Amino acid sequence: MSHKSRIAAAFTRQAAAYDSVAAVQREVALRLARRAVSRLPAPPARILEIGCGTGLLSAELATAFPAARLLLTDISPAMLERTRARLGERAEYRVVDGEHPEGMEGKFELIASSLAMQWFADLPGALARLSGLLAPGGRLCFATLGTGSFAEWRAAHAALGLPCGLHDYPEAAPFPWPPGATGTIEEEFLVEHHASGQAFARALKTLGASEPAPGHRPLPPGAFRKVLHALRGGVAVTYHVLYGEIHR
Ligand SMILES: C[S@@+](CC[C@H](N)C(=O)[O-])C[C@H]1O[C@@H](n2cnc3c(N)ncnc32)[C@H](O)[C@@H]1O
Repeated sequence: MSHKSRIAAAFTRQAAAYDSVAAVQREVALRLARRAVSRLPAPPARILEIGCGTGLLSAELATAFPAARLLLTDISPAMLERTRARLGERAEYRVVDGEHPEGMEGKFELIASSLAMQWFADLPGALARLSGLLAPGGRLCFATLGTGSFAEWRAAHAALGLPCGLHDYPEAAPFPWPPGATGTIEEEFLVEHHASGQAFARALKTLGASEPAPGHRPLPPGAFRKVLHALRGGVAVTYHVLYGEIHR
């Protein structure tokens, strides 16, 4: 199984449980939708969403742009079905690897994606390909994780000299824009409190965000217990959120 298939399978397994732990994701979706509304010069006729998950952003977009045609996509069929259950006939649905949207018929006045692109192997390449689907004047608005995300979890591993399986996330500046693209980034830090390291690890697993970075092997149980022990009194976990925009 490829790394990408394992990412999709992890989200598929957790599709039913995702919303129960997705407080930050819900908040980011709301903020991203507000940004899109404030930045678009006119209501979009066609919207493409990448990595829609259970439809948290999709629902905001459907409300904000009632006349728009929505094409909602995700790499996980089970996640996509959750969105279909939320929005029904209001949208079209397609299983798509958002990193490789080749073959999709554009053009979209808005392409949106909330907290999915941190799973991409080649972010600049994906942004270039997605930008190619924008209509003239269109906007690609996304939220993804920045380098400061989960710093506390990384620090607990580092303090014990243990490797951490989290993926590497980009800096806000310099952000890895594709060549020739003019984009903007705004960043914010959202903090979520967990009663213990174990509670945080369980929440990540419940979200489906459990596939480690390529090449990382799970820690032996004894080493993992040391990390959990270090965080037994509770942990405040930072989500460093990057809101990006490419304007065509
Ligand atoms: C953390 S969830 C976010 C879901 C939703 N956008 C939200 O804000 O709640 C990440 C989603 O990205 C999807 N995803 C991961 N890699 C993807 C890819 N290459 N193409 C499309 N979707 C992908 C996952 O299946 C999952 O539904």
